[in-house]
Amino acid sequence: MSTGIGELDRVLGGGLVPGSLVLLGGSPGIGKSTLTNMALGNLTRAGHGTLYVSGEESAEQVRLRAERLAPGALEVPVLAETDLDAVLDTLAAHRPQACVIDSVQTLRAGELTGAPGAVGQVREVTGRIMELAKELSIAVVLVGHVTKDGALAGPRALEHLVDCVLQFEGERQRPHRELRALKNRFGSTNEAGLFEMRQGGLVEVLDASARFVAEATSAPGSVVLAAMEGSRPLLVEVQALVAPSELEQPRRVVSGLDRNRLALVLAILGRHGGVGVGGADVFVNVVGGVRVDEPGCDLAVALAVASAARGVPITGFAGGAPGTPRACFGELGLTGELRWVGHPERRLAETAKHGLGATIAPPDSGPGACEVATLREALTAALAPAAPSTESNRPAQLAA
Ligand SMILES: Nc1ncnc2c1ncn2[C@@H]1O[C@H](COP(=O)(O)OP(=O)(O)OP(=O)(O)O)[C@@H](O)[C@H]1O
Ligand SMILES: [Mg+2]
Repeated sequence: MSTGIGELDRVLGGGLVPGSLVLLGGSPGIGKSTLTNMALGNLTRAGHGTLYVSGEESAEQVRLRAERLAPGALEVPVLAETDLDAVLDTLAAHRPQACVIDSVQTLRAGELTGAPGAVGQVREVTGRIMELAKELSIAVVLVGHVTKDGALAGPRALEHLVDCVLQFEGERQRPHRELRALKNRFGSTNEAGLFEMRQGGLVEVLDASARFVAEATSAPGSVVLAAMEGSRPLLVEVQALVAPSELEQPRRVVSGLDRNRLALVLAILGRHGGVGVGGADVFVNVVGGVRVDEPGCDLAVALAVASAARGVPITGFAGGAPGTPRACFGELGLTGELRWVGHPERRLAETAKHGLGATIAPPDSGPGACEVATLREALTAALAPAAPSTESNRPAQLAA
């Protein structure tokens, strides 16, 4: 069943599957209720039977939110209930095709003594809902809260029970939200969907690259990363700040990246790139609240940190408009070599499409790339004054 939200359908692997269980996790206020409400609204409009079970909000609160979403959201039947048996009875009586339980931590199985949200309760609640969902072929979305350390609270234990685990992420202060599949029995776990929170609900971001590139600067410490989000290329700006530290153990702060990855890149930069940041605080940020989770980000992190440490901007490619940011991708090996990463042609097509030519990339990446074999060569290409364009580094669209 299509949810009518393209990005959500794609992450689900095509849509909701009857009789399946989807666990949707995310931190408070990120937009889980908004997303599920919108999806049910669309399904209702498309003629499917739906039910929204809210254990957190009153029916009135749900209605208030629905008012500012697309019209269908107001037509979704709402049940404000925390008692599991009552919820199961309603499901059995109404037999909707799609149902949202918001959230699984608020339901309570009467026969168990634990408080709602305790592991035993959450497991029992899920097990019994699953039984009924399979029997009546109801597609169920369980909303789950995420703890401070990022794990799906309690529901960790649910991850193998359910068919699909989705994570809704983003910085609350910023409008961008990202939906990822951590597990999916019906599709790839590489897909990610991008949204923006607006007055009228969550809007799909169809050309995120254009937005991030337009916002990117060419100041020291900034570089554009040609990343892959599943099967889609995405250009994001990576920024770094290197500042003298007053701490014995300098700070290493990342946002949108894996912290260990930064440690590794800093070690390689020091050992093979001649850029030591030992005593300095290092901050690295993927702009826009996006998370990058692939080896191709190494080079961008290295170049951003090197550029910040030296206070030298990364020069755009020769022939690019002044102030054009530079793009790159590639994995760093422990010996300082630049390693090939997947889908170079899609990444390069994306950078060319947005006017960023001569993307710094590993060997064998293809035409349009400024190919370099080592970190040292990458640093030279990125931090040296722009060399005149040659056949090999001329961007594809200019050559054409
Ligand atoms: N009028 C509005 N215009 C724009 N955004 C709004 C508006 N009202 C609420 N929001 C956004 O919607 C978010 C809440 O969304 P939602 O209730 O779907 O989140 P949630 O993940 O279900 O949260 P919770 O964990 O509390 O249930 C708020 O954080 C806010 O950013
Ligand atoms: Mg909610």
